[in-house]
Amino acid sequence: MKISIIGCGYVGMVTGVCLANSGHQVYFYDQDREKLDNLNTGKNLIFEKNLKNKLNLAKKKNKIFFCKTLKETIVKSEVAFICVGTPLKKNNINLKYIKNVTIEVADMLKYKKNFSLIYKSTIPPSTVEETCIPLLKKKLGNNIDKNLNIIFNPEFLREGNAIYDFENPIRIILGVRNNKSKIILRKIYKKYQKKSKLIFVDIKTAEFIKYHSNAFFSLLISYSNEISNLCSKIGIDYIDVFDAFKLDNRLNINNKNPEIINYMMPGIGYGGSCFPKDIKTFIKFSEKKNFNLSILKNVDKINTFQPKFISKIILKKFKKKNIKNCLVLGLTFKENTDDIRNSTSIEVVNLLAESKIKVFVYDPIFSKQLFLRNRRLFNKRIKYLDKINFNQKFNSIVVNNISEEFRIIVKHYDKKFDTLIFDSRRAFRNEKINNYLGSGLK
Ligand SMILES: NC(=O)c1ccc[n+]([C@@H]2O[C@H](COP(=O)([O-])OP(=O)(O)OC[C@H]3O[C@@H](n4cnc5c(N)ncnc54)[C@H](O)[C@@H]3O)[C@@H](O)[C@H]2O)c1
Repeated sequence: MKISIIGCGYVGMVTGVCLANSGHQVYFYDQDREKLDNLNTGKNLIFEKNLKNKLNLAKKKNKIFFCKTLKETIVKSEVAFICVGTPLKKNNINLKYIKNVTIEVADMLKYKKNFSLIYKSTIPPSTVEETCIPLLKKKLGNNIDKNLNIIFNPEFLREGNAIYDFENPIRIILGVRNNKSKIILRKIYKKYQKKSKLIFVDIKTAEFIKYHSNAFFSLLISYSNEISNLCSKIGIDYIDVFDAFKLDNRLNINNKNPEIINYMMPGIGYGGSCFPKDIKTFIKFSEKKNFNLSILKNVDKINTFQPKFISKIILKKFKKKNIKNCLVLGLTFKENTDDIRNSTSIEVVNLLAESKIKVFVYDPIFSKQLFLRNRRLFNKRIKYLDKINFNQKFNSIVVNNISEEFRIIVKHYDKKFDTLIFDSRRAFRNEKINNYLGSGLK
């Protein structure tokens, strides 16, 4: 099929590149001209495992085109995926980009027949019905369903595993208004149907499914962080509690814990471009419906508190041990991504630097170039290290993300300098580190 992707961020790029490699012709468009030019020449691509290879492969097969105008994109395609951002504004979702893109696309659709408009951005339940469809009707008339299939298809990819997740979907949720949409969606996702179930629901349900899913994972994280904080307060190790809990039959599939268990490891709270904003939006949405989503209010509150709580523990230990400098490993909101949106690690490094600790940061995926571009987010006293000089002494290391390289660094400093290791993620829980502290530890 001929598919356009509108909005070339994390979701748009992954969706478009994967669909192109599954045989479709894909036309990308982004209102950010510089981004579009860079993508065309392969410069400044977001860091996502295998994205570059897959993009080059699709380019070689002539399956990918970058269009300079929205008009060109729409004219050439029969389906458009809307992948624009839905950021927060004053603790609620900002639908500006969704509204704008809907109006812009509607202008182009006046002369199109049998077009499918698929919203992929995360939007609260009823947004398509109450916001997008009235905008489309205003431009195209009340009879829009004759020529237009309006669909909502939430995205569940995890940054860092996005290509894998797209190509190996467990379920593809499709909010539809008519049977014609189902036929088109089966064609779009033909390659993936063997691996996954296409689940057809109404649009509002599909919108809700996405929020429910993110809310549940955030709930697990905040619950675990709060319990872990209590453990450290009363002098027991959360990991002992967690390891015992994990043995429960209900959490074992063929003697293995499912991946969901990882959301129960202690840490510095969830960050990124999805969980924080989706939880706040879900709370606002329920308030509008006169419903008190009290559990998520606490999830959000705990998460706001968590990086502050962990920083306070670190600073207390540093004071006790007269530690004046520290190397922090990991700046992005989690490992294997260059995304720092709402990264709780950045909050931790800033709190340490504000307390007059000399802070060095190291994160090879979040390159020096990105650090300089985002300098304003970091306390002026923070020093970015391009690489680790293994002879440079640090009094302490704080581990905020996990990677093989970080493991090597920690082990080296533990052996050579007896450096104090604060393991925010408890990544070294099974290893012998001499001078070891961490979250959830007595
Ligand atoms: N990043 C994730 O891991 C993830 C996962 C699932 C769902 N989502 C959801 O998907 C959506 C997109 O997320 P993202 O991380 O890819 O965002 P992003 O900010 O990386 O990308 C959005 C892109 O849309 C472009 N854009 C905005 N308005 C436009 C317009 N009118 N025309 C053309 N382009 C326009 C922007 O220039 C930007 O490049 C959000 O709603 C997000 O919540 C994200």
